[in-house]
Amino acid sequence: MAGLIPQYFIDDILARTDIVEVIDARVPLKKAGTNHKACCPFHNEKTPSFTVSETKQFYHCFGCGESGSALRFLMEYEHLSFPEAVEELASNLGLEVPHEKGGDTGYSTKIKQADSLYHLMQQVDQFYRKQLREHPQAQRAVAYLKQRGLSGEIAAEYAMGYAPPGYESVLKALSDSSAKPDIEKKLVETGVLINNDRGGTYDRFRDRVMFPIRDQRGRCIAFGGRVLGDESPKYLNSPETPLFHKGRELYGLYEMRKAMRKIDKVLVVEGYMDVVALAQFGVRYAVATLGTATTADHLQRLFRLSHEIYFCFDGDRAGRDAAWRALNNALPVMREGLQIRFMFLPQGEDPDSYIRAHGKAGFEEELGKARTFSEYLFENLCANIDTHSIDGRAQLVEQARPLLSQLLPGVYRQMMLQQLALLTRMEVTEIEASLQNNTTLVRGNRNAVAKPHEQQSGAALSQKNTLNRVNSTRSAAKMGLSPIRMAIMRLLYLPRLAQLVKTPNELAELDMPGIDILRKLLELLHAYPHINCAAILERWAGFEDANQSYPHLVKLAQWQPEVTDEAALETEFLGVMDALYLQAKEMRLEHLLVKSNHGQLSEQEKQELRQLTQRTN
Ligand code: UTP
Ligand code: MN
Repeated sequence: MAGLIPQYFIDDILARTDIVEVIDARVPLKKAGTNHKACCPFHNEKTPSFTVSETKQFYHCFGCGESGSALRFLMEYEHLSFPEAVEELASNLGLEVPHEKGGDTGYSTKIKQADSLYHLMQQVDQFYRKQLREHPQAQRAVAYLKQRGLSGEIAAEYAMGYAPPGYESVLKALSDSSAKPDIEKKLVETGVLINNDRGGTYDRFRDRVMFPIRDQRGRCIAFGGRVLGDESPKYLNSPETPLFHKGRELYGLYEMRKAMRKIDKVLVVEGYMDVVALAQFGVRYAVATLGTATTADHLQRLFRLSHEIYFCFDGDRAGRDAAWRALNNALPVMREGLQIRFMFLPQGEDPDSYIRAHGKAGFEEELGKARTFSEYLFENLCANIDTHSIDGRAQLVEQARPLLSQLLPGVYRQMMLQQLALLTRMEVTEIEASLQNNTTLVRGNRNAVAKPHEQQSGAALSQKNTLNRVNSTRSAAKMGLSPIRMAIMRLLYLPRLAQLVKTPNELAELDMPGIDILRKLLELLHAYPHINCAAILERWAGFEDANQSYPHLVKLAQWQPEVTDEAALETEFLGVMDALYLQAKEMRLEHLLVKSNHGQLSEQEKQELRQLTQRTN
């Protein structure tokens, strides 16, 4: 096994590589001011919003939000794994990638732990695949896959495997006796093993065909396993783990991106088998949710790849319910330019059975009949309503209101309101007013709508989520030019500024939004004084809480100073930091004074208080 790539080496190649060159070779760039621009390779667009900054060695798309260093670009664009991308940049520079045994140079323990979980999952994945070829019982699994009509090629492409019968196959295969307790603990963390009542563990997946679930980078993060017969449960899935979050991941996404350079549309289906069967018949653009409803998170991720998303559901009751849930979850992300369509298969069919019976052409013909988002929404609302009566039309507005009010303000929302106006023979302005006031309509018979439709409770909930989101964006905008943001922006632009200030411990007193990011950033730059903006972001992406802070950091990294004079930047930065230190001191002082009033100061704190009062007076 190759060891970890030392972080200093990654910093180093990011310092030596020119991101403009790397990207320009793949996506021709045009100079625009201090930056370079192109149409974004990660989503479809006509006007370029993909920018590459030479100073920061960093790309960002204002359209879809994709961003990162040269390494991340290669990973996303060429579907490389992290080590492969490092390898690529290193070989451009004529460097050999060093690997350290056990690896321990400044990698934070969290990253190391996550890395080792990924590594472990890779080994488990390989183990299951090997069992499909070699285990004495594997013939049954192979026969099952054949009977389902899967080709060997497609099974290999989706890296399908076999979890053998027995309760400790994985542990036996992966640990030698010395490392056993540690590996066992980690295997439980990845969900591959389950703790039993006797302090031991056992295999979660036994005698099942295995579908590895990969993240965007292709790393195995979870599994689905299917029984070979009719036993129950038919499918077992990995639980939520540090590596795997159902609400975010999609089965087949990695394989789809690997197979297709340009993705015109994405099809969301319900089952693992559906994805694999569709791919076998040449429909390579299908992904599956993992036993959950499609979330807004899923949709946002998919809309980055393509502006056309199709959902395929079974034609039965469960399928219709699932479709309605998906529609509800999609409301907050819909806007003009994006399209969602709903396809319903005949009763008793799923994509797997349908494409086997009718082939690619037959399937795509059905796909062509899919209903648009607005068609489906209004058809459904109108289904049990008599829109010829005034009562019925009032009822329709009542039922549409909690749904349409979740749409973001804009052209799309306006179009939907117009549609509703047409159906109810009302003025758009009237409808708008009723959405805003959220009061019951005056028009029509109120008794007819007194009993809210069951759909409204869920919709009302997600409406609340949307409001929360809007509110938090507002408060982020309010903190507009906080000193913390100003400091972070300047540090990202010119990381050496960090060396001008001392340890950030004093800032601990400040309870302000963003202070943790600033402290962490200063700590990072004190530990690694020579890294550039791209390397900072690269390291940050690996931090435990990166999900929350990384997007903020990326936004702040977009900042361009009006004057690029470094001396002026130094002065500004020091000014901001002085103000922050002062504020921190005042807060500390206040804290100590309160404590002193209660006679609770230690000797040390008394001394500190004396010093503080001397200096600020
Ligand atoms: P289906 O029952 O429709 O399965 O479940 P399928 O994909 O058609 O499976 P085959 O054709 O019988 O093999 C759809 C999805 O729901 C989840 C799985 O993700 C499955 O792919 N599921 C289903 C479970 O998680 N557990 C179950 O017991 C059943
Ligand atoms: Mn099926």
